[in-house]
Amino acid sequence: LRQKYLEAIANAADEAALEAIRIEALGKKGEISLKMRELGKMSPEERKVMGPALNALKDEINAALAARRAALADAALEERLKSEWLDVTLPARPRRKGTIHPISQVTEEIVAIFADLGFSVAEGPQIESDWYNFDALNIPPEHPTRTEMDTFYMHRAAGDDRPPHVLRTHTSPVQIRAMEAHGAPIRVIAPGRVYRADYDQTHTPMFHQLEGLAIDRDISMANLKWVLEEFCRAFFEVDHVELRFRASHFPFTEPSAEVDLRCSWEGGTLKVGEGDDWMEILGSGMVHPKVLRNAGVDPDEWQGFAFGIGIDRLAMLKYGIPDLRAFFDSDLRWLRHYGFAA
Ligand code: PHE
Repeated sequence: LRQKYLEAIANAADEAALEAIRIEALGKKGEISLKMRELGKMSPEERKVMGPALNALKDEINAALAARRAALADAALEERLKSEWLDVTLPARPRRKGTIHPISQVTEEIVAIFADLGFSVAEGPQIESDWYNFDALNIPPEHPTRTEMDTFYMHRAAGDDRPPHVLRTHTSPVQIRAMEAHGAPIRVIAPGRVYRADYDQTHTPMFHQLEGLAIDRDISMANLKWVLEEFCRAFFEVDHVELRFRASHFPFTEPSAEVDLRCSWEGGTLKVGEGDDWMEILGSGMVHPKVLRNAGVDPDEWQGFAFGIGIDRLAMLKYGIPDLRAFFDSDLRWLRHYGFAA
């Protein structure tokens, strides 16, 4: 009997098999339980021998069951540890950090420089009415600029005759909004996205401008020149810069000037302030009296300058990037190559 059960226990493969053996031997109708019940019918001499023997057997089987149960649990744990182990000596996987896009970086730099010069930041919507984008800036409905600029027009529902909104073609409408909101005197810059239907190596349908506006009682082109020189020295981190003002035309400024920066390209690297090249960097002028009036500012009392800088152009110059489109491809390899991404 003893031999039979101890062998069965030793061979039991799992918890369920052990329980079956326990019931077979020690359950209510188990083999050993029945034998113990028969003790009463035995003679005292027999009982004296069989009683302790059965009790000892019962204890031995219980102990064997417990030992086998523990051994099975150990083996199961061993199995699990084999499949679930963790190598804490493995080096951590490198995590890629997000970085600031070069255009955002350059925008922040430019804003910081103009903040030092006393300009605060103004904003306007990218979907703009044609009043703010064109008419208020003295660009009449039939003006060729409206098509020259290749404006993106927002469509109105059929039967809606109101003039369509546009994706703003420049940041100049923010001049109007800022003067309406704050009046004169005023000194603001307005960085932001602008849109034109244009696409080649130096033009993308979305790009970035930074508008500047300074209105006071006696502001002149001389102030404009000084502000732009200070800005260029700070932005390109050079002591000396030279700007060239070329007469130009914008409907919203009079007189108007495009501004070029003296520079040289030696072996593909830009040097600012020396050399024989001139790089166009912005449009500017004295704000047209009609524009002031359209924005609720009295041109008999106030005057000032405005300018519009191409932010992407400045970023290309600063980082020596030949193709503007690469800025907006979201190609991580390109961004990493120029150190703009980790
Ligand atoms: N808005 C002009 C452009 O987009 C630039 C400009 C701004 C010119 C302000 C003069 C004054 O080209």
